[in-house]
Amino acid sequence: MSLKNKNLVSTQDWKKEELDQVLDLAIKLKKKPFNKNLANKTLFMVFFNPSLRTRSSFETAMNQSGGHAVNLAIGQGMWKLEHQEGTVMNGECAEHIKDAAKVLSRYGNAIGVRCFPELKNWKKEKNDSIIKGFAKHASTPVINMESTLYHPCQALADIMTVKEHLGKTKKKKFVLAWCYHPKALPTAVPNSAALIASRYGMDTTIACPKEFELDPSIIKSVKENCKLNGSKMEIVNDMDKALKGADIVYAKSWGSINYYGNWDEEKILRNKLKDWKITKQKMQLTNNAKFMHCLPVRRNVVVDDAVIDSKNSLVYDEAENRLHVQKALLNSIMR
Ligand code: CP
Repeated sequence: MSLKNKNLVSTQDWKKEELDQVLDLAIKLKKKPFNKNLANKTLFMVFFNPSLRTRSSFETAMNQSGGHAVNLAIGQGMWKLEHQEGTVMNGECAEHIKDAAKVLSRYGNAIGVRCFPELKNWKKEKNDSIIKGFAKHASTPVINMESTLYHPCQALADIMTVKEHLGKTKKKKFVLAWCYHPKALPTAVPNSAALIASRYGMDTTIACPKEFELDPSIIKSVKENCKLNGSKMEIVNDMDKALKGADIVYAKSWGSINYYGNWDEEKILRNKLKDWKITKQKMQLTNNAKFMHCLPVRRNVVVDDAVIDSKNSLVYDEAENRLHVQKALLNSIMR
C-alpha cells in the first residue's frame, strides 16, 4: 500500500497495517542502511525546541538515503513563527506558519516539526495548533518530531525495540512508570508510549501518582486500543504493585495536567514523590523486565545507574532504532 504524501502527526491516525509496513521496512534498512532512494530530496526540520536524537537521527537518515536535511532552528537564524490563525502580527513573530509551510513545500519534499508546549494553559495547548497548522498548510508530508500531545517517531522506535527483544507484543505487560524529575515535563512521550503499546496488544499499565494521570482523551484511546486488541489497561497509583510481572518498564516523568501552569504548587507535591524512581529493587518486582527510556534522562533521579547500565536496559537500542524507523518513514512518505 502506498504511504506517499501521508502526514505523521500521531500513530493513532495511521492504520495498523500502515505502521507495520514502516516497521517492516525499518528492519530491512537496519540490515542494509545505505541507498539512494531519496537522492535529490530535501527534508526541512523546523525545531522550536532543542534535540540530540531527533535532529541527528533524521539528518543521518536523509544522508544514508542519498538525500539532504536542512535544520531550521527557530530564533537562531530562522524567523520566529506565529501559529494563531487571523492574528494581528504586531508582536515578536515575523512570519506565519501558513507562509513558512507553503514556501518550504515549494523547495523540498517533507517538513518535520518539533514544537513542545509552553506549559501554561493545557486546554489551549492540547489543541496542538503548530503541528496541525503545518499539516494543514504544507503540500508536502509533515512529520511530528514531538508536539504537545504526541511523539510518534519515538513511539515507532519504541515498539520496534520491544518487538526485537520480546519477539511478540500481544499480552506482554508494558508498564509506563511515572518518575520524579525536578522539572514539569510534557506528556507527548508517555501519551505516545501508552498508545503504541496498547495498539500492539500489550497489557498496558500506567503507574503514576493520582495527580499525574494522563489526559482523559489519551486514556480513552488507550482503553479503546486495548479493547480492540484483546489486552488489558489499568492505571495503578502504586509503583510496586504496578511493576509486578512487568515485561517492559518504560520510565518517564511528566507534569501534572491538574496543576498545569501552576508549577510552583505542583513542585511542592512532586518533591514528596522522590521515591518514584526506578531502582534495582524495583526491577526485582518484575518479570525480569527490560528497561526503556526515550532519553535524555536524569541519571540517579529518574533511574539508577545500576538499572540503566544493566544488561536489561534497552535505551541505546531504542535511540538507534529512531534512525531506522525514521529512515523507513522518509522512504515511505516522501513525495
Ligand atoms: N527522545 C528524543 O526525542 O530525544 P531528543 O529530545 O534528544 O531529540
